[in-house]
Amino acid sequence: MLKVAILGFGTVGGSVYERLEKSRKTIEKQIDEPFQITAILVKDRQKDRANLKDVFITTEWEQFKAHQKYDIVFEAIGGIEPAFTYTHYFLDQGIPVISANKKLVAKKGEELEKVATSGGAFYGYEAAVAGAVPIVNALRGTLATTAINQVRGILNGTTNYMLTEMIQKGRSFADVLLEAQQLGYAESDPTDDIESFDAWYKLIILSRLCFGKWADPEQISRFGVSEIENWHVEVASDIGCQVKLVGDARLEEGEIKGIVSPAFVVNDELLASINGVTNGVVIYGEDIHELAFVGPGAGGAATANSMVEDYLFQKRYKGDRVVIAESDSKESASYDVVFVNQASYGECLHWAEAHSVNIIESIPHAEGEAWIVKDAAVDYLHQPVYQLCGDLNQVKSRQHSKVL
Ligand SMILES: NC(=O)c1ccc[n+]([C@@H]2O[C@H](COP(=O)([O-])OP(=O)(O)OC[C@H]3O[C@@H](n4cnc5c(N)ncnc54)[C@H](OP(=O)(O)O)[C@@H]3O)[C@@H](O)[C@H]2O)c1
Repeated sequence: MLKVAILGFGTVGGSVYERLEKSRKTIEKQIDEPFQITAILVKDRQKDRANLKDVFITTEWEQFKAHQKYDIVFEAIGGIEPAFTYTHYFLDQGIPVISANKKLVAKKGEELEKVATSGGAFYGYEAAVAGAVPIVNALRGTLATTAINQVRGILNGTTNYMLTEMIQKGRSFADVLLEAQQLGYAESDPTDDIESFDAWYKLIILSRLCFGKWADPEQISRFGVSEIENWHVEVASDIGCQVKLVGDARLEEGEIKGIVSPAFVVNDELLASINGVTNGVVIYGEDIHELAFVGPGAGGAATANSMVEDYLFQKRYKGDRVVIAESDSKESASYDVVFVNQASYGECLHWAEAHSVNIIESIPHAEGEAWIVKDAAVDYLHQPVYQLCGDLNQVKSRQHSKVL
């Protein structure tokens, strides 16, 4: 009898329990033996969990770990501590841990993977990136020898929902944030989502899988969505683009470089059509050209589905990705869209001239101008900046823009 333990019994932990029970027959057929959910660790002893029969539930770590020798542990606590200590403990004992905890994996994944390797255990984190979307194990399994030189994705469902509402219904940022909180998409403290920490964690994890090593976090920059204004969205729509929060990482001379920031995604790009709470990931490589993965990025059932499949995947798992991309990323030039409001126009123009900034086009608006600039260190301008994702030739600005 296989002994299963669950750390945390909130949205995700509870859904893992349900998914395991719901699919008991098919899971047991896959693993070729019966299983039992034997123990659950929680924090709050006051919560009513009377519906859980025949399961040892405790708030005490010492009791939990001494209760039994588990064969598999699902971690759905969240945060760094105590999740790190608990995960470390089980991996060190050679017990596989399946996690949905993107923050822990992004910040401590390298260390935990070393522990897992030396303990001979599987550390699974399919559910930590893009909820139900099976990108992690596609990279570890079906694409284990495929060279990838770039990965790009819409990795945060909350902000994508907000931006979709702003674009499609002309609503303000503040208005949609409030609604996202009421709908339970955004936390009461929405910092992780709107300052892009959540998408940043996921991009770090994706980079590790795509490029076969952990990125230096300093090389993955992060910008939030709170500076997005309605007129930016109007300009985007005018020139055939969608405003999205995009994570983009690539290999440049063997180093992983990445950014998570608001982006103008050209309409014919696949990511332009990813709306609402959906997530999308596109990977690029010489042989695969581009491969896209799209689906629900969060939610208890979707995340639990990934966690259970992750556990079953480890049975077939043969080892790490072996390929480091040989070629450079698909786009050599990089373009940004900089928003210059009326008040800062003179100062920005002066700066651009002094630094020989290559302004390809300037798109006028009543509030100011949007400049499309090439290969420029635009963050020094202290103006809202968007990465441009897609083919510059598809930007429909030429008919009403001026070249400076
Ligand atoms: N929710 C989603 O849609 C989603 C999607 C993908 C990934 N994730 C990730 O999944 C993880 C869990 O998220 P969630 O939404 O399920 O969170 P949640 O609903 O807040 O549940 C957290 C659970 O962990 C328990 N817990 C918290 N601190 C603990 C501690 N110190 N010791 C023992 N137990 C502790 C809580 O116990 P009590 O029940 O006693 O309070 C609760 O059962 C996070 O890493 C999150 O980023 C969530």
